[in-house]
Amino acid sequence: MRKLLAANWKMHLYADTAQALAQQLRHHWQEKGWQNLPTVIFPPLLYLREIANILKHSSIQVGAQNAYPGEFGAFTGEVSVAQVSASGGAWLIVGHSERRQYFAEKAPLLQRKLLDAQHRGLKVIYCIGETLEERRCGETLNVLRQQILEVLQGVSVAWNQLAIAYEPVWAIGTGINATPDQAQEAHAFIRQLLTELGAPASHIPILYGGSLKPENAHELFRQPDIDGGLVGGASLQANSFAAIAAALWDK
Ligand code: PGA
Repeated sequence: MRKLLAANWKMHLYADTAQALAQQLRHHWQEKGWQNLPTVIFPPLLYLREIANILKHSSIQVGAQNAYPGEFGAFTGEVSVAQVSASGGAWLIVGHSERRQYFAEKAPLLQRKLLDAQHRGLKVIYCIGETLEERRCGETLNVLRQQILEVLQGVSVAWNQLAIAYEPVWAIGTGINATPDQAQEAHAFIRQLLTELGAPASHIPILYGGSLKPENAHELFRQPDIDGGLVGGASLQANSFAAIAAALWDK
């Protein structure tokens, strides 16, 4: 199954609202019989364990929006991949544009995070995407190529523990989504690139992210190479996240 739907809660919600949202989603997924729709929630790390407990006997998995490679160490303020895993996390987001932009994360660190997470049994969503300026200069595909190659080339990636998220930076949190054609072009390019790297690309989920919402989910998911979504803002309400799930279920 190539479909995958992910909720990136970012730095939102308190413990009680986070728990309530997880409970609503669990009920909704059960009610709709969506146990075969691979779904993962990325809550703030502080709530990871309790959200994982709420979702334990459901089909929804949880993951970390960020983690530091390794097990223990003198890295004040960090939480390790091993700690995430021990707290019930099954996934890690690597390379989100907000980490690249605000926390200056570069390819060597992203590669360490990705490989360490996979080594410890986690699955990874590796995020890539161009800025508005890069798109305007006609650099989109070059940027995507570079972001893929600098992290995934020449190392032993566990392809069956990987998903890619194409998230144009100009579409994240702006209300402006990529058109289905723009997204399809990028997704097909990414799949081709993965094939060139020797990956079983037809089995790797490639998600779209960037102002994905119920109003545009159907037409985006209709594209042949869009296998799901990484949802930010619209994942903070059970109704809108469920509507996006319904669109993916129908694909
Ligand atoms: P958005 O965020 O849906 O709010 O645009 C997506 C993301 O950053 O993963």
